[in-house]
Amino acid sequence: MGRAAVLSGVGGHVPGRAVSNEELAERLDTSDEWIRSRTGIERRHFAAPGTATSDLAVAAGERALKSSREGTADAVVVATTTPDRPCPATAPAVAARLGLTGAAAYDVGAVCTGFVYALASASGLIATGVAERVLVIGAETYSGILDPLDRSTSVIFGDGAGAVVLRAGEPDEPGAVGPFDLGSDGGGRDLITVRAGGAEQRLSGREPAPADRYFAMEGKEVFWNAVVRMAASSRAVLGRAGLDTGGIDWLVGHQANLRILRSLATELGVPAERNLGNIAEVGNTAAASIPLALADAHAAGTLAAGDRVLLTAFGGGLTWGSALLTWPDLAPS
Ligand code: UT7
Repeated sequence: MGRAAVLSGVGGHVPGRAVSNEELAERLDTSDEWIRSRTGIERRHFAAPGTATSDLAVAAGERALKSSREGTADAVVVATTTPDRPCPATAPAVAARLGLTGAAAYDVGAVCTGFVYALASASGLIATGVAERVLVIGAETYSGILDPLDRSTSVIFGDGAGAVVLRAGEPDEPGAVGPFDLGSDGGGRDLITVRAGGAEQRLSGREPAPADRYFAMEGKEVFWNAVVRMAASSRAVLGRAGLDTGGIDWLVGHQANLRILRSLATELGVPAERNLGNIAEVGNTAAASIPLALADAHAAGTLAAGDRVLLTAFGGGLTWGSALLTWPDLAPS
């Protein structure tokens, strides 16, 4: 058995301003009843103007480092759809602000699957001896890319960040992460997209339409893709571990929509009370969603050392991914 990545710290952060469904209904043709019944979301948090994704990432990263015995990292991986700048990556600035100048630092872009991809990448850094301790952060400020006139996306997404610390350890100790399953289908790239702002738009030589600067999603098609892909990826990762869903204590799916999460649990045969999440409080925070759900569950004392946790996500790309881990013995946050 080779060495494994072991989870040793977790932390989350949401910006201070909670935005209720009622507040959105004041400016959009929607209602609290529609949003609750169709998505399970009651509120989300929006960053104040002037707050960047890196600000949220630093806050979550600080908490994760504090909760770990390591307290430091020699690599920082940031999963985000909303980087501070197109260039350079957000991770080096986050590392520097955390006092980790000199650490390897890079971003991972897999939209809502970003955290699972980043976790796999960070585990690889540890497995290959490139790093001993890695800080993995999912951080987003979707409020900055949402079309204020699009009710179908404006009611779903929120801002936030979640982070974990991984350290080198043994595959059979509590906190061990893996195996993983990752996949993509670029044929579906138009289903979840921001069309303008990249090389394609520059090549076309024309000014983008205002709506092309915003995040766009074909909700209905994405919905069923999300259930089917997360279920298949979950089964694949369980198969790799020689487990079935009976061997899982908690399912932590990407917090996209409560109806998606319920369909996924039904599809996998996971009881409702084992389906863990916080979508009512934070909405869909894309790459931050899974680590934020883990941080909130840890703060609530829901997860016990040795619990088997299945993480699964689906997002733009299209991308999907799943990971297994056993929960470590962490100090209460
Ligand atoms: O994070 C990456 C992955 N993302 C996801 O997984 C999100 C997946 N998709 C969804 O969560 C859902 O598809 C939505 C929440 C986006 C939409 O819910 P839906 O139940 O699929 O609604 P729909 O698109 O079928 O629309 C039903 C009706 C439509 O009106 P008509 O055509 O029936 O008159 C929409 O225009 O609901 C309308 N509608 C709304 N009404 C009130 C759409 N958004 C809203 C809204 N408030 N916010």
